[in-house]
Amino acid sequence: MIEKVKLQNFKSHRSTQLILDDSRLHALVGQNSSGKTSVLQALHYLSKLTNSSFTKIFQYESSPEFITTIGQDNMSVTVSGFWGENPRRNWTYSYQWQQNIDHPWLASWKQTIDVGYGEGTSHISLRKHTYPIPPSLKYAVHLNLVATNLAKAAYSDAITPEVEFDGSGLAPTLDYLRNEAPDKFQSLQEMLKRVVPGVREVGVRRAKVTVNRQRSIEINGKSLLYEESQEMTGQEVVLDMNMGERIPAHAISEGTMLTLGLLTVLMNPKQPNLVLLDDVEQGLHPKAQRELIAVFKEIIQANSNLQIILSTHSPYIVDELTPAQVHVLSNTNSGFTRAKRLDEHPDVEWAKQTLTTGEFWDAEGEDWVVVGEIND
Ligand SMILES: Nc1ncnc2c1ncn2[C@@H]1O[C@H](COP(=O)(O)OP(=O)(O)OP(=O)(O)O)[C@@H](O)[C@H]1O
Ligand SMILES: [Mg+2]
Repeated sequence: MIEKVKLQNFKSHRSTQLILDDSRLHALVGQNSSGKTSVLQALHYLSKLTNSSFTKIFQYESSPEFITTIGQDNMSVTVSGFWGENPRRNWTYSYQWQQNIDHPWLASWKQTIDVGYGEGTSHISLRKHTYPIPPSLKYAVHLNLVATNLAKAAYSDAITPEVEFDGSGLAPTLDYLRNEAPDKFQSLQEMLKRVVPGVREVGVRRAKVTVNRQRSIEINGKSLLYEESQEMTGQEVVLDMNMGERIPAHAISEGTMLTLGLLTVLMNPKQPNLVLLDDVEQGLHPKAQRELIAVFKEIIQANSNLQIILSTHSPYIVDELTPAQVHVLSNTNSGFTRAKRLDEHPDVEWAKQTLTTGEFWDAEGEDWVVVGEIND
């Protein structure tokens, strides 16, 4: 479980600290460009470090020169939390980029973990990935689902298919779930019906899919790579709705497909421990947004290792949370991010008696987070 996130010179975050409460469901709110997606990105990079190298993760638009605050020569992300109850292991895991004369950009990471029991507990620092990575981070997904990708017919030859970051691969994943975990598939269907009442049944049928595969041929002893497209039999999602049966996914509404995608990720037998969701309310009616959060809370209740961090612009989503679950991000005059939890607001006790959390946020906005700050 993640308890604390510290961003130092990460994009607009000069120095941001988020303390997460023990609810395992946390929202980031704030105006456009206030740094919400950046927090999810920073966490996702850390989780990727558990099975990838710096060079693979920090390239192209995530190169250190782009993600380090403009004008700064170092950046770091530090996350701490715990794993297990008895014994409870506290851990801290961080990565850092530094620029100096000898090296344009130098990367390093550090992990500390509590070892031993009770009074004998001590910290050890690890320089190699020899100790198990905190499972809270190892199985993490960052999703920004796109309805059209969710609706596409797809083919997978993986033993356990998964929904990708952008929503592709939904149909094979659902097919797998239906065969391997029918009880989970059933609950998923019930939950989807609660969020989108017009749904009757979720189905998957066979469909033709064009798959591009890399091939290599040998010419004069040299191997040459080329791409070949091949028609395969994959799957597509079909839904029985109240107005008709077997409606193909591409004809289904965006909000329905997005909810189906989210629930498939959350109900998968290979469920991630950390789910990072950007703009979670996209495409959803206010009532559906409220129901989605109610469903999230039930899934979290039933899965003691699951933590969800989401970003939102919707007071309906915020309404379903307590002020301690809501992190308000605001920009200073120079554009840097400041963050405070809504329960740090001086009027929170009064507001709890009088307003819903969404109304409180709507009324107070974000300016109170930076009030009194003269400069950075
Ligand atoms: N290297 C950098 N140095 C300083 N600031 C940066 C850097 N890179 C990006 N930014 C700022 O961070 C902002 C991106 O913030 P982010 O995408 O996290 O916002 P957001 O809160 O998710 O907004 P939205 O609600 O629009 O999705 C950019 O608009 C830019 O102003
Ligand atoms: Mg964003």
